Amino acid sequence: MRQMTPTHCNARASCNAWASVTIRAMPTPAERVVELRAEIDRHNRLYYVEAAPQISDRDFDDLLKELEQLEAEHPDLVTPDSPTQRVGGEPIDGFQTVEHARPMLSIDNTYDRDDLLKWHDRVVKGLGGEDDLFGGDNAGGVRYVCEPKVDGVALSLRYEAGHLVRALSRGDGQRGDDITHNVRTMRAVPLTLDTGEAKPPAVFEARGEVFMTDAEFTRLNKQRVADGQEPFKNPRNCTAGTLKQLDPRIVAQRSLRFYAHGRGECDPDPYETQTGFLEAARAFGLPTNPETKTLDSTDAVWDYIEGFAQRRGELDYETDGVVIKVDSIAQQDELGVRSKSPRWCIAYKYAAEQATTKLLRVDWQVGKTGKLTPRATMQPVDLAGTTVQHATLHNFGEITRKDIRIGDEVVIEKAGEIIPQVMRVVVESRGKDVKPIEPPTRCPECEADVEVEHDGDEKETARYCSNPECPAQLRERLIHFAGRDQMDIEGLGEKVVIQLTEAGLVKSFGDLFTLHTKRDDVLELERMGEKKADNLFAGLESAKSRGLSRVMAGLGVRHVGRTASRIIAGHYGSIDALMEATKEEIETFEVDGEKSGIGPEIASSLHQFLHSEAGRHVIDELREAGVDLTESARATEVAAPRGDNVFSGKKIVLTGTLESFGRKELTERLEAFGAKVSGSVSAKTDLVIAGEKAGSKLDKANKLGVEVWDESALVEALGET
Ligand code: IVH
Repeated sequence: MRQMTPTHCNARASCNAWASVTIRAMPTPAERVVELRAEIDRHNRLYYVEAAPQISDRDFDDLLKELEQLEAEHPDLVTPDSPTQRVGGEPIDGFQTVEHARPMLSIDNTYDRDDLLKWHDRVVKGLGGEDDLFGGDNAGGVRYVCEPKVDGVALSLRYEAGHLVRALSRGDGQRGDDITHNVRTMRAVPLTLDTGEAKPPAVFEARGEVFMTDAEFTRLNKQRVADGQEPFKNPRNCTAGTLKQLDPRIVAQRSLRFYAHGRGECDPDPYETQTGFLEAARAFGLPTNPETKTLDSTDAVWDYIEGFAQRRGELDYETDGVVIKVDSIAQQDELGVRSKSPRWCIAYKYAAEQATTKLLRVDWQVGKTGKLTPRATMQPVDLAGTTVQHATLHNFGEITRKDIRIGDEVVIEKAGEIIPQVMRVVVESRGKDVKPIEPPTRCPECEADVEVEHDGDEKETARYCSNPECPAQLRERLIHFAGRDQMDIEGLGEKVVIQLTEAGLVKSFGDLFTLHTKRDDVLELERMGEKKADNLFAGLESAKSRGLSRVMAGLGVRHVGRTASRIIAGHYGSIDALMEATKEEIETFEVDGEKSGIGPEIASSLHQFLHSEAGRHVIDELREAGVDLTESARATEVAAPRGDNVFSGKKIVLTGTLESFGRKELTERLEAFGAKVSGSVSAKTDLVIAGEKAGSKLDKANKLGVEVWDESALVEALGET
């Protein structure tokens, strides 16, 4: 039994307890500090590793408070690894990118059993074994580890001599952002490794997934909405956004979780199996997923996949599949890696959930560039845990292609964060009373003429409202401008933008920054108290210094997104220099002796905007309001060095029909990321992006073993870039 020490006898404990315990001398502060740290670490471990907490959060906080108090009284007792040092770091200026000791690879995906068995067959063959396609009882001598594929954010933790020295995000797999300041605040990540059972290697790197429970996600979003902020789309975005914070105090307030799932550099490296590595990590105090299983037949792997499909809905975090890994590290080494993913590992992804419902109505929504997007309203239906009533239809071309009509039964699907999509019509059950969907010829909000855009094959790709002063466009532009990835204006969420524009208080970007002069009018808005208004004014004030690249991205100029803005602002350094540039110069300038990746479409769109009357007016207004329209080269470099993304330097081939992108637009975007987009697949191709109805190019890619992504993988990667 643990002995009670006098300091345990605080207000909460009854002092009668003393009668039955051995009394020890009062510990010195130095002893008590050590004791408290061990106790806190033990409870962290019970909570995050064992999932078997023994004390309440309150009692845990009391331990932490006692330690804080003691350390405040005896500053000489503070150590960098003390749990009190998790929070309190100062915000950093920007992220440093650091090379991974070993690249952080990604995983190939498969969606059906046959493909999984074919992969297994390749593994067996690769190891010199017999063809064991559809092998039953034993997996051709291969043992597999099955782990849930947690839908989170990859992280690499480096411990030296048992101390956490660095935490890196995945970045492009070769280099990641140093996010140590944020990761240190995560209670799920030990600052020092536990040496109780075994001594960790001098260098111990564990890779794993940072994620957020659904409960924490809901709690945070409720709070954000109450504070007038945009809610996060899903737990993964929220986790990614949290890890990108410059201020660790914000991270400390969001309870992030972590499961280790792989090995980085280990020196010495005594690990012979993935199972052994995971056991060691767990013994050192790193959480590992309790759902993990080591299995030695393909049947058992398949049973695991089917069983987990049933169970995963009950877990309090999001998963999108199962990762299957060859257990033996010698075998892993023998199989080796392809350009981006190892041959010894595959992800079995569950199909996105589908539901069938009736299409009731289609409305056309005006976007920030005036683009009209059809939005379907359907009979509410349960899909992947939520009730769904709306879905996107992308554009009128898609409606015609899929022959969707009002009153049809439609199959909808939800993949990750992406809003549900209408996949197809159940033609068999089409009634007589269905009505065609009419494309708009006038803007539904301002009645201006509509312009229709086609691709090279004369297929309709988009419709635009032609009125630059359309109130709906203004509203959407402001929402975008204030968004987290652009000007990140605190207090200016969607609802507030709607109120401000409807009240006529804001008619342009510039008006935002003079809003404080209309304080009384602002206070008259519904649900707008003094505190909320002051928060908004403060948010606007601090947004003024975000710099040119954020301003440019915020303007919502067609084709000019975050990356293009960063490259262009970084090159010109100020709006004045940019205004001097010709279209050709913007298109051809070089960065570090290489083409910048800004193509003609981006250059001409930006140039046209900057020299239009509206564009000049916007810039004058922003300048007058004191918005910083310069970019310090250092800031761009630190925040996002060119080439630090998954597409950089890759040879990419596009094939098939992509729903969300035009060919030309996507090509430019990828080129802006430093990729080379070419027309034919060869052994030199790094990546094929295959849309619907992909044909011979996809076959060739598969034959050559070239990595293939579907549209959802692309959307995901673009979202992260
Ligand atoms: S192993 C070489 N195991 O999925 C193997 N990854 O789509 C690299 N992920 O970047 C990763 N759960 O962030 C592995 N149990 C698991 C995982 C997992 C989630 C993520 C990981 C990776 C991404 C690839």
